[in-house]
Amino acid sequence: MSEMSRDDLRIVAGPANRVLADTVARELGGEPDPSAVERFPDGELRPWVRDVHGADVYVVQPTGPGGGDSIVALLLLLDACHRAGASRVTAVVPYFGYARQDRRQHGGQAVGARVIADALATAGAERLVVVDPHTPALEALCEIPVEMVTAVPVLAHGLAGTGDGFVVVAPDLGAVKLAERYAALLDTPVAIVRKHRESGSSVHAKELIGDVADRRPIIVDDMISTGGTIEAAAGVLLDHGAIPEIDVAATHGPLVPSAIRRLHALPIRRLLVTDSVAQHDAFAEVHTIAPLLTDTIRRLHEDKPLDDLLIRT
Ligand code: R5P
Repeated sequence: MSEMSRDDLRIVAGPANRVLADTVARELGGEPDPSAVERFPDGELRPWVRDVHGADVYVVQPTGPGGGDSIVALLLLLDACHRAGASRVTAVVPYFGYARQDRRQHGGQAVGARVIADALATAGAERLVVVDPHTPALEALCEIPVEMVTAVPVLAHGLAGTGDGFVVVAPDLGAVKLAERYAALLDTPVAIVRKHRESGSSVHAKELIGDVADRRPIIVDDMISTGGTIEAAAGVLLDHGAIPEIDVAATHGPLVPSAIRRLHALPIRRLLVTDSVAQHDAFAEVHTIAPLLTDTIRRLHEDKPLDDLLIRT
């Protein structure tokens, strides 16, 4: 094992999105990470990190899709780095799952975001980097510092060429600020759909605030899972006379298999997501956040401010 110092930056690549993590490592001038997470026959995971002693370590691992194994692998990798003597351990979690459980909506529920945040800190993370989390409350839920960077400029760049005749649409009230950030970059008006979620896969949307008639909608959201939110919003937009050529942009695409079928049935012209979660379906245009993560990690390593990379709420 070679001797490392705090001057050495190391990327530890989790298994959930190795391509993204290895790309970041290469862009930072390093080699693909030799660490591995083995799986025992009974399903348990065992990580093995190498060459982290004394180094400034960034464990890159989204907590999805799916959650369970990705979260356990992230926790075990953080613990392994901490125990191997890393001088500082940062969890880089491009997609932070469970962020939708940031408060209890009914008695008997859990605050899942808090549970995961506490577990990361307990496992050895001293800082957390996330991309467009579902809720900015994540910062207040975590006992360690949280850097919330945004992929909106990446996706807005992918949407470039829009302008006259377009309208950015928030598919629910929680996406209004996000929609305003897109609209500012694309120079479009904003419309808002009011959504009511009935279950994990069923949502209803009826009311619309704003004018979409004879306009081309761009629905923006932090994530797409079942596609129910996009489907419901699209229905409202078409009912209000929007042109049936819809663009959709979401930072995270932890798409369940039925979501692809659901989205295929809609008049979607383009679907843009990032690679915060590994993507396997050719339907979505994938825009990489590797340069964003590379820039973030380089600046953290050099103790430089992240201001222009952060979400401005
Ligand atoms: C919820 O408020 C989120 O911002 C997304 O709108 C939602 O999680 C998307 O999930 P789905 O695709 O299952 O509707």
